[in-house]
Amino acid sequence: MYRVTLEGRGDFAEWRNAARAFLAAHVSPREIDWRLHSEESGLLGFEEGDAVPSFDSTANISVPSSFVPLAQTVICHSDPARFALLYRLLWRLVQDRALLQFKSDSDVAEARKLEKSVRRDSHKMTAFVRFKEVDLPEGEVGRRRFVAWFEPDHFIVERKASFFQRRFTDMDWFIATPKGFARWDGQTLETSRMAAEKRVLNDETEDLWRTYYANIFNPARLKIKAMTSEMPKKYWKNLPEADLIPELILGAEARVLEMAAKAASEPQLFHHRLQAAAENVAAPVLPDADTLEGLKHEAQSCTLCPLHCKATQTVFGEGQSNADVMIVGEQPGDVEDLAGRPFVGPAGKVFDQVLGETGMAREKLYVTNAVKHFKYEARGKKRIHQRPDAGEVQRCRWWLTREMDLVQPKLIVAMGATAVFSLTGMNEKISDLRGKPMPMEAGRTLFVTVHPSYLLRIPDEVRKAQELKRFQADMKLVRDMALHLEASG
Ligand code: URA
Repeated sequence: MYRVTLEGRGDFAEWRNAARAFLAAHVSPREIDWRLHSEESGLLGFEEGDAVPSFDSTANISVPSSFVPLAQTVICHSDPARFALLYRLLWRLVQDRALLQFKSDSDVAEARKLEKSVRRDSHKMTAFVRFKEVDLPEGEVGRRRFVAWFEPDHFIVERKASFFQRRFTDMDWFIATPKGFARWDGQTLETSRMAAEKRVLNDETEDLWRTYYANIFNPARLKIKAMTSEMPKKYWKNLPEADLIPELILGAEARVLEMAAKAASEPQLFHHRLQAAAENVAAPVLPDADTLEGLKHEAQSCTLCPLHCKATQTVFGEGQSNADVMIVGEQPGDVEDLAGRPFVGPAGKVFDQVLGETGMAREKLYVTNAVKHFKYEARGKKRIHQRPDAGEVQRCRWWLTREMDLVQPKLIVAMGATAVFSLTGMNEKISDLRGKPMPMEAGRTLFVTVHPSYLLRIPDEVRKAQELKRFQADMKLVRDMALHLEASG
């Protein structure tokens, strides 16, 4: 029997190195005792006294590429059995490369269950971290500084740190958890797997959260079960707004009756307040859902930027929930705003036509926009499209990021400059980026092309035909990359 003791705080490399050694030495899963490090368990690594298997640590082990992201996620789970489970899967995958496709296999099902739980915990972290402002040390001037305390179930801090870096890039922050911490100072993102200490802080930010929550609480939409499932009670103790919830629920019925009595004569008071607040308030983190349906539902009441005030509805993404390819446009147009679906107007027709020519099925893609509300200027009876500004794109990125987290596309096609800006923060010219696949985080590839509405705006018919051809050629490349992804599993 071999024994190996791991720190087990979400470090994939630690498990991978040991697993690679065992696999290269043909040690079967039954012969390994995977242990979790504790004060008593002593040294890390292969235990003294055990014969360490002889192996070639550089040996190249070939497993389907889909195993790596699965293992990287599962390793963050806090279940001590995860090391053995992953090694069993690895061992079996070498014999049977298609194993992961058998969802009913007990090892595969268990790994997927752990993966889901880590994902869920990660989503909860993005929703329920609450920053509190702290004073700068005496005499120090600089950016505002915030700290947050969060209690995740799993070792997810490192996974989520870049989310907070993107989201709260303009402030210094420190997120402390018993399962590691992350710190951002505008230059460097530092993460650690060491447990951090809880500091008790109360400040005005708590009042802001409470006011915000009381404002967005719509008594007519009260679904206590759904609410407590999206915002499980275990998180309440660290949420400043949580102590308002019982009171708001109790008063909900009376408020619904009051709203009904006023209905149709004038908009509700809190509606005006919300809209006014949305003009100035920095985007707060909303509770987020674990499914696209749930997320779409939440997005319907999005007030992160003022665009919701004039648009008919939020136009959310649609398509295959685990699509390999995600298409990102700019924002819904006039037709989409009324229909509530992306790319169903004139630009959507060009897009559909080109998809048809390349042989790509739209239902196999996930199609969405950088901005989910239609921005326009009213001219007479017409609503004239206006490009969303940087702030609107940045706020709406919250939804796009959530969509990417849930769909997990491998290839993202940015159609037009707004999509590129939303996905990369770059303001580069499309012609400089077009047609060249670029690596993105999480092993994704970004492919940039023009927006189909650009083709509609070209007045000269010859040029229009030429540009259409170029767009078709770009989409053929996308199709080939998608086929390649499908083939490589
Ligand atoms: N243009 C876009 O970018 N998206 C749509 O959904 C429609 C037009």
